[in-house]
Amino acid sequence: MNNLKRIGILTGGGDCPGLNAVIRSIAKPAMMQYDSTVIGIEDGFEGFVEGRMRELTPKEISGIVHLGGTILGTSNKGNPFQFPVVTPQGIEVFDYSGNAIRNYKDWKLDVLFAIGGDGTMHIVNKFTDLGYNFIGIPKTIDNDLSSTDMTFGYDTAVSIATEAIDRLHTTASAHHRVMVVEVMGRYAGWIALSSGVAGGADVILIPEIPFQWEKVCEHVLKRSKHGQRSSIVCVAEGARPAEGGLVVKEQDKKRTDPIRLGGIGELVGRRISESVGLETRVAVLGHVQRGGTPTSFDRILATKYGTKALELAAEGKFGFMVSLRGQDVGSVPVKEAILKLRTVPPDSQLIASAKAIGTCFGD
Ligand code: F6P
Repeated sequence: MNNLKRIGILTGGGDCPGLNAVIRSIAKPAMMQYDSTVIGIEDGFEGFVEGRMRELTPKEISGIVHLGGTILGTSNKGNPFQFPVVTPQGIEVFDYSGNAIRNYKDWKLDVLFAIGGDGTMHIVNKFTDLGYNFIGIPKTIDNDLSSTDMTFGYDTAVSIATEAIDRLHTTASAHHRVMVVEVMGRYAGWIALSSGVAGGADVILIPEIPFQWEKVCEHVLKRSKHGQRSSIVCVAEGARPAEGGLVVKEQDKKRTDPIRLGGIGELVGRRISESVGLETRVAVLGHVQRGGTPTSFDRILATKYGTKALELAAEGKFGFMVSLRGQDVGSVPVKEAILKLRTVPPDSQLIASAKAIGTCFGD
């Protein structure tokens, strides 16, 4: 019996490279093997609540493996269970999950594939508990989902950040400056740690290791006294001093996570220039890390994730998230995957290696 006559796909949360590769690797085999009608839900859960969708054609899902962004559009503002609505009293949140469920039924979906980060997986879990057929596919440049060794999008973000650090080295050395580079990653330091090590940063600051200002400044000063007249400081947006909090750029009640981080790089740059007296510049990489073509690693991972997700659906294994363990893609219950965020373990081998070669973490 064909239980995949009508399938839905949505991309939720911030975009990242590889989303289109996943859409393609679910939709293509679904059309070819199961003759499925594939409903593309527009703009993530916002479109799910508001009933916006289109039937995907074979043409639309072809030739997109290398494209960044998402052909479906996405949003990080439409949690159906806490849907933000602008009222005369300001922004209020309402439970609009009933609207989403009505659409799920009207569209006669056999399963809905939700490609997203931890916010998306929490929503997938809630719909699963209500008895609907959902399967999660883990994406995020932050790499902060537990129960999977890696999310797709992360490898691309690390490559982009590494290339940026490579470029900053030459301008830093030409001007004998300290260059501070702020990278994304939310509450996890994966991007900063990996790109910092790969790019040869002299200081790496991550949320998992609250830093001491004196240690950071001393390190840069010592380098300068030893004739190393330029330094690179790679700062995760979620890094914070031991005595101090997160630097928040904006609070937006419409977002699934209302906190938008940003600004720690500027703070670190100012402090170094004031304390050490060296000329300092700050580069904030921002959304450049999420744009453009995915690396071949992310395209391959995304392709494995998509085809495995379809396989799970064919087996009726709903409420699961596909997950990478070593080289192989398997699955875990979404309930397990959302238990905690996956942050960098302070005793990680990469931190030890970085420290062994003299990298300062400010601790
Ligand atoms: O979760 C991905 C991410 O890029 C984070 O690294 C960052 O903190 C956040 O999204 C930025 O969100 P927005 O695109 O809404 O500014």
